[in-house]
Amino acid sequence: MPPSPFEPTDPPDNSGMRKGLTSYGDQGFSLFLRKAFIKGAGFTDAALDRPVVGITNTGSAYNPCHGNAPQLIEAVKRGVMLAGGLPMDFPTISIHESFAAPTSMFLRNLMSMDTEELVRAQPMDAVVLIGGCDKTVPAQLMGAASAGIPSIQLITGSMLTGSHRGERVGACTDCRRYWARYRADEIDVEETVDVNNQLVASVGTCSVMGTASTMACIAEALGMTMTGGASPPAVTADRIRIAEQTGAQAVQMARDRLTIDKVLTPAAFENAMRVLLAIGGSTNGIVHLTAIAGRMGLEIDLAALDRMGRDTPVLLDLKPSGQHYMEDFHAAGGMATLLRELKPLLKLDAMTVTGRTLGEEIERAGPGFKQDVVRSIANPIYAQGGMAVLRGNLAPGGAIIKQSAADPKLMEHEGRAVVFEDIEDLATRIDSDDLDVTAQDMLVLKNIGPKGAPGMPEAGYIPIPRKLARAGVKDIVRISDGRMSGTAFGTIVLHVTPESAIGGPLAYVQNGDRIRLSVANREVALLVSDEELARRAKASPVVEPTAERGYRKLFLQSVMQADKGVDFDFLRAAKMVDKVPRKG
Ligand code: FES
Ligand code: MG
Repeated sequence: MPPSPFEPTDPPDNSGMRKGLTSYGDQGFSLFLRKAFIKGAGFTDAALDRPVVGITNTGSAYNPCHGNAPQLIEAVKRGVMLAGGLPMDFPTISIHESFAAPTSMFLRNLMSMDTEELVRAQPMDAVVLIGGCDKTVPAQLMGAASAGIPSIQLITGSMLTGSHRGERVGACTDCRRYWARYRADEIDVEETVDVNNQLVASVGTCSVMGTASTMACIAEALGMTMTGGASPPAVTADRIRIAEQTGAQAVQMARDRLTIDKVLTPAAFENAMRVLLAIGGSTNGIVHLTAIAGRMGLEIDLAALDRMGRDTPVLLDLKPSGQHYMEDFHAAGGMATLLRELKPLLKLDAMTVTGRTLGEEIERAGPGFKQDVVRSIANPIYAQGGMAVLRGNLAPGGAIIKQSAADPKLMEHEGRAVVFEDIEDLATRIDSDDLDVTAQDMLVLKNIGPKGAPGMPEAGYIPIPRKLARAGVKDIVRISDGRMSGTAFGTIVLHVTPESAIGGPLAYVQNGDRIRLSVANREVALLVSDEELARRAKASPVVEPTAERGYRKLFLQSVMQADKGVDFDFLRAAKMVDKVPRKG
């Protein structure tokens, strides 16, 4: 009698369809059942006897940024099968920026848990993570980091640009620009209707250096994508080819047991920080990087990020810091062009999902060519990195400013605080003709931090009060504990930590207080004495928000501050084992 194909093997095999067999009772029966059920879908034993590659399907009618998911999955499957593996796609949560209330960030950790647990629960030897819209890639990398198996990121890719009355437009820096023009009475209702058809010209992610593009570049810098995986637009043949290669490489990673911990090392995160600074990336990028690193037991040192920013110039000429769009970056050679330029600042021995180091990948990409999207270090867009880390008595745990997108005239500024207690207060009063505000003031918005709103919404891009907008004011200093979209611009201080909802100093700012912002000194200071702040805290103590039930309750109980990546405390690695960058 031949041996049973369902019994445990000697030595034990925990791969393919045998992976994670339930151990209560009878393992042989467990495999017997598993195979019986999957055969219900028409599989043969020959198909099941291969390395299994899971593919996350994050397509959703609510998510046009992932509108090419069906084509990508088909191409990944082709790649997996060409390399001798068995592709198995499965759904996870999908999050789109505009369709997730109260804010997509509220759901990021939920998506990371969904991803982690489904990768862990189902039999797979490697996983292809298909993500693109802002929160999806960080959620997937967080989940995969915790699940620990060989993992490779596939980006959905950017949307095409559109054209409106002779002008090239793309989401969503131009969405903001046109809306601001409408608020200032510079364009009429008909024009808003026209441009609305052009801002998102195809499926795919926002076409500027917003959070989606930032995370795509970061994923490649971390070594988590195929080389060249960050930049191809969603609807291109290059994007589909990358998908096929990604599937094939996933099989190779399964065979080589190239687990995610071999890729997500301190060196990889250091490279990602350099790239974040050099692309003029979204401020959200640092929150997400911190959260991903936290899953690996790595602590991102914000002070070091600031130091790195002083010798990492912005090289990428993309909106909102510059003028081009993602498709131009792709035509200019994509990340290879940027990484080649940044080479002296990178840790070239960092391992990537290809099994080669980042340095080897840069070499393989060949020589550069003349283009005007990625500048040279000698001729940068902006001499320092895209963002600076501020401290001071208003933000003892730090705050962030995207200096490359700020007005240089406002970066050294002292002014009077005009305070809004929360988003509702802002909505009621910001456009009032009675609002006591001048262009020299500083708008302060409270209660939009991780616990405040909750979910740290992108409300830190406080609109210019209508009466100032009509008077032609284009920028004003704004300060909050929230985030802002990577597609936004202005002199905007974000991520003030600790947040006001848990009693951070921001909670006690009052109308008329003086605030000093000095980006040169990396300072954001409330010019009010400690005694007075203590008196205010005692007079009206902050009551932390709570919820009765459900995910919101879990969120409010567990969410950490911006300097810990806004992850849940119980999802972070049990122990922090190293810092990024490493000392010495
Ligand atoms: Fe999905 Fe901008 S809305 S990337
Ligand atoms: Mg965004």
